[in-house]
Amino acid sequence: NPTGSPRLTVIGTGYLGATHAICMAVLGYDVLGVDVDRGKIDKLASGEVPFFEPGLPELLAKALESGRLRFTTSFEDAGAFGDVHFLCVGTPQQPGSDAADLSYIDAAVRSLAPHLDRRVLVVGKSTVPVGTAKQLTGLLHELAPAGTDVELAWNPEFLREGFAVDDTMRPDRLVFGVASDWAEERLRAAFKPVLDLGTPVVRTDLATAELVKVAANSFLATKISYINAMAEVCEAVGADVKDLADSLALDDRIGGKFLKPGLGFGGGCLPKDIRAFAHRAEEIGVGQAVSFLRQVDDINRRRRARTVDLVRELLGGELSGKRIAAWGAAFKPNSDDIRDAPALDVARTMHGLGAHVRVYDPVALDNARQAYPELRYGDSALDAAEDADVVVLLTEWSDFRRIEPDALARVVRHKRIVDGRHALDAAQWRAAGWEYRALGRS
Ligand code: UGA
Repeated sequence: NPTGSPRLTVIGTGYLGATHAICMAVLGYDVLGVDVDRGKIDKLASGEVPFFEPGLPELLAKALESGRLRFTTSFEDAGAFGDVHFLCVGTPQQPGSDAADLSYIDAAVRSLAPHLDRRVLVVGKSTVPVGTAKQLTGLLHELAPAGTDVELAWNPEFLREGFAVDDTMRPDRLVFGVASDWAEERLRAAFKPVLDLGTPVVRTDLATAELVKVAANSFLATKISYINAMAEVCEAVGADVKDLADSLALDDRIGGKFLKPGLGFGGGCLPKDIRAFAHRAEEIGVGQAVSFLRQVDDINRRRRARTVDLVRELLGGELSGKRIAAWGAAFKPNSDDIRDAPALDVARTMHGLGAHVRVYDPVALDNARQAYPELRYGDSALDAAEDADVVVLLTEWSDFRRIEPDALARVVRHKRIVDGRHALDAAQWRAAGWEYRALGRS
């Protein structure tokens, strides 16, 4: 490569891979995005990002225009092109089990390895059970014509949906799990513009690098469930979890991030990662060490049930036949992702109990409609609230915050609102004559 910087391939162009490929090309690398899904590849190659992520479509256009980003379905091309290969495929929860499904990452390595005939670095970025990298190293050495010249490193990814571009371009830290100085040097070359910003690097072994990722997500999930456990206690004694959280947050040692009480966590990462971690820990005989993660999961699930109970209480004990506006479908704002979305879980439970639920979400509506055609959908927040007996805020989009109590009062049947995310100003809504209820507040 005449420029001296390594040529990169990114294998798996889902959420993580597409973001990584696009950002790396914008940072100046020659990048080849690889996926077995021809539809995905065609979309990306024509400038379309197949999911919602602020700022990413503009960067894709820029990367394609520069000529530094191309896409393929051919692993042969990938092997010929890349000096550093990033593995970015998904590791979802296995159906009917808590374990992670490693079939995609296994298939990616099996497809790539036969085309690796020179000394290259393969870098895992996917979230995997600890020990996976060791297994994949064996597989690479066995299947690659270059044998043990091919090295595997682990570089976990910490990007958040909704902030993916910024998290990729300006991460808090880079973790390099490597087995040699050469692998570290290659990784440094592959992240040069990011390192030039002064980004801290932790160099460690493969197993630690794998663990950093699940430990981080487990910590975040635990923090959320901690404050939601306090909400349960607050509910029992008529205390206020919002004031409690605000007070804890003012202690620097605790901090306010991921301490927002409410409906709890969802999405394609936190829920499945804590389950896969607990499962893996049991497999390797240290289940007890992280058995609390099962409780973190339970606390989180109870928030969903409690939200339904709160709506039922507000409606006088009966959901059947009631008209309910469900505001929000995405697992969090600024995302169209509905994987394990608390909002849709609550909406579906209420629907199952005989309520007439009408869902609205500013961005995730199409995804929700496709996944759950049995629910009804509104064209706007106010449309979904037409004649409603109660409005339930489930995802804290800023669009919902901006709605005035009086404007909403004109369309609903009853002025009742359940704020599942502590997104609204309780005093303002009560002053406007609304019955306002929120989790963990009297
Ligand atoms: C999470 C991690 O934050 C990322 O660092 C990680 O890279 C990513 O998983 C991953 O493993 O790929 P993400 O799933 O995009 O990122 O979403 P978060 O911003 O972490 O939110 C997760 C859930 O927690 C959302 O449902 C959100 O509503 C909820 N949450 C968050 C709370 O209920 N309370 C809070 O205080 C914060």
